[in-house]
Amino acid sequence: MAKVLFERTRHEVDWPEGGRLVDLCDREVRAGVPLACRHANCGTCRVEVREGIEHCEPAEDDERALLERIGNGSETVRLGCQLVLRAGDGRVRLWVTL
Ligand code: FES
Repeated sequence: MAKVLFERTRHEVDWPEGGRLVDLCDREVRAGVPLACRHANCGTCRVEVREGIEHCEPAEDDERALLERIGNGSETVRLGCQLVLRAGDGRVRLWVTL
């Protein structure tokens, strides 16, 4: 993934290698994604992928189950602690939903 834009904090990061968003958030204090349990249990880290969902790996069962339980059935709403971005070119634009 070439670029990730955290819209709420207006922070954009070059990230060509992609990987777990939680790792990027740990590195980038201005990401602004509120992380708590980090294990698909609490839902505080929800983000809306406003652009670039095609650059994201599909949700695993744990993530999908929690999102359904808390009433987020949209394919573009994801858990920041579980989201994995693919390597390569492109742009992902994220909005923290809290
Ligand atoms: S931090 Fe709890 S579900 Fe992501």
